[in-house]
Amino acid sequence: MERVAVVGGGTMGNGIAQIFAMNGFSVTLIETRQELAEKALSTIEKNLGRMVSKEKISEEEKEATLERIESSTDTASAVKDVDLVIEAVPELYDIKKKVFQTIDENAPEHAIFASNTSSISITKLAECTGRPEQFIGMHFFNPVPVMKLVEVINGLKTDPEITDQIISLSDQLGKVAVPANDSPGFVSNRVLMPMINEAIFCVYEGVAEPEDIDSIMKLGMAHPMGPLRLADFIGLDVCLDILEVLYEGFKDPKYRPCPLLVKMVDAGKLGNKTGEGFFTY
Ligand code: CAA
Repeated sequence: MERVAVVGGGTMGNGIAQIFAMNGFSVTLIETRQELAEKALSTIEKNLGRMVSKEKISEEEKEATLERIESSTDTASAVKDVDLVIEAVPELYDIKKKVFQTIDENAPEHAIFASNTSSISITKLAECTGRPEQFIGMHFFNPVPVMKLVEVINGLKTDPEITDQIISLSDQLGKVAVPANDSPGFVSNRVLMPMINEAIFCVYEGVAEPEDIDSIMKLGMAHPMGPLRLADFIGLDVCLDILEVLYEGFKDPKYRPCPLLVKMVDAGKLGNKTGEGFFTY
């Protein structure tokens, strides 16, 4: 496996492109508009620059990594000769479906398709393509260059041979692959999102101030970030999308999104990316 395309250059996509390029792969980062592609590349450059200043990589390694990444706004031609496509577009089924249909029509027969979805069914996404056996979930965590985990999710038809390839690929990237079966939210977000939602209910019901809720979880449970700062970091819109997938998927009221979360998303308070969420940035 040598050539990789990453569709989507947002927080997850640019991190995924960065780690593949750092590990010697040729990467094409696909975005919808040129300015978004440029923004993704400059984020990667900034993050590599931070690694140089912390002496984790050399200036030469940074330059070589950047040379291995090109960008494109034309998905069809960008996937023509790739071995693997990783999709990291917004967490909405219809957008992902359209992307996978285009990729399926244009990528070589042997190419593996992976989705970085944080909660949508891999089995359902796989059926948007004519090759569900070569389709898998490869779920990275933010910040991608730092977090060790790749949650690997098999769809109902995923070929075990493809799973083995993705597990050894994760190892090549310096990550630890942990398998989970296809179920709403998989393991990571089925456990994480109810905790975040419950922290938001504590704000909603006036149990404690956001700062104090986070301090309790950081100092008492040794979490590196409190649940509300983490929610801001992930994006409140993304948290809401995932909770809705859990709520719809299980039809269980325990996953109902807190009304305060819905209201904040409606008001455009999405966390770090908009400068305001439970905290200001
Ligand atoms: N690229 C490269 N390195 C980065 C980085 C980036 N984007 N962001 C942070 N780092 C590095 C820093 O350089 C630093 O390295 P050293 O320790 O070698 O100096 C290290 O990470 C720690 O960073 P900071 O000192 O700046 O800050 P910190 O100690 O507060 O750690 C954090 C920041 C790593 C984000 C930490 O707070 C943390 O682990 N938070 C929890 C993150 C988490 O839970 N992520 C998962 C979210 S869920 C998800 O992504 C999936 C989903 O489906 C929703």
